[in-house]
Amino acid sequence: MSSSDWKAAIAEHKVDPKVKAEARKKFHFRPSEDAPTSKIAPENTVQLEAIDLSKYKEGEEGLPARKELADQLEGAVTKYGFFKVTNFAPKELLEQLFSLSQSTFEEPDEVKKQFFAGEHNLPHEKNRPLGVVRGSGYKPAGFWKYTENKTPDNVEFFNIRNFTQFDTFFNKTEYPEFIKANLDDIAYYFNYVHHEVLRKVLNLIDLILELPEGFLYENYFSVVQGDLANSPDGSARFLLYRKVTDEYNEKTGNIWMRGHADQDALTFLLSQPILSLQIRDHDTNQWKYVTHTPGALIVNIGDMFSQISGGYFKSSIHRVVTAPEDQRQYDRNTALYFCNPVPTTYLDPDAVHSPKLDRLGYKRDAKLERITAAQWDDKKGEFFNRVSENRTKDFTLFGRPTVGSLVV
Ligand SMILES: [Fe+2]
Repeated sequence: MSSSDWKAAIAEHKVDPKVKAEARKKFHFRPSEDAPTSKIAPENTVQLEAIDLSKYKEGEEGLPARKELADQLEGAVTKYGFFKVTNFAPKELLEQLFSLSQSTFEEPDEVKKQFFAGEHNLPHEKNRPLGVVRGSGYKPAGFWKYTENKTPDNVEFFNIRNFTQFDTFFNKTEYPEFIKANLDDIAYYFNYVHHEVLRKVLNLIDLILELPEGFLYENYFSVVQGDLANSPDGSARFLLYRKVTDEYNEKTGNIWMRGHADQDALTFLLSQPILSLQIRDHDTNQWKYVTHTPGALIVNIGDMFSQISGGYFKSSIHRVVTAPEDQRQYDRNTALYFCNPVPTTYLDPDAVHSPKLDRLGYKRDAKLERITAAQWDDKKGEFFNRVSENRTKDFTLFGRPTVGSLVV
């Protein structure tokens, strides 16, 4: 789908400006208040590679610039499995998104209950264990409990599914009032990330793997309108961690979300000022803060892509901790896209035919059964849905070890 196609399709579903304006007034749509920059010591932070998309040029003449970006990206995905993408979208688009995310949580509790995540699956999703982690709707704070003392968790989110499938997204799904009144803007941002940012990142990965550019995007991530079974089925999320008390921090050991590796192919997180995201270093096991870059995406490789690359790309363990002292009075509010390939994709490098992976010896483990993206997504999704009962360090799914650990 070309850029003009998806933009035109969304424009056909433009929300009545009067309806939008009224909903924005009602749900306190406002600029997000930036926390001051944290003075955390630099040795406790990790400096991620920043892939500057303003340097990405299409066409034959842009190839040297793309190769340079691909070289930069290769170090990042094979070492940390994390990188930043800068200059990817206009500032106004991102400011609007933070405001949309904030106001999504202004709906009253009775509406949040009515749209409880995973309880309103569409007919084609009926048999999937989407649960609170992947199902459309709200996951309230406190749904999960800490194993040790039953303290309620502190993350509230709203999941958005099928935003690349326009008929399903605009015509067949029910939404709370605020989301419904802003559906075109929400669709625009997440489709922009899918069709523009993901496509460019995948083209760079094609270069890394010595594949023809467009191979991964066309074969694993291209959208066929109306054919959900043969289209990528990731999901998006607005997310809110509210500020907490010292007493809460004590009860939770300052950990808001235990260490885990994402189950998807790639995760795109909009960078925000509160330093709470930490990555566990592969070599030293030390936790390091990811710093904030205004206007950037923080991108990480998930299990699926790691498996497709035969382990060459790392799916890093990361966690969310309480805000640093100097940012403790602010809420942490952002948006994510968990990007999955087409559900039938096999999670091994056999179908990729990468000369690079062959040469380096990253190949399918013949001892393990072949599994698809849908199998992995459902199995690991179920695990996360029951998060409080699944705290373990040695955890395997389909014989794949430790990729889903929830560790401190
Ligand atoms: Fe994660």
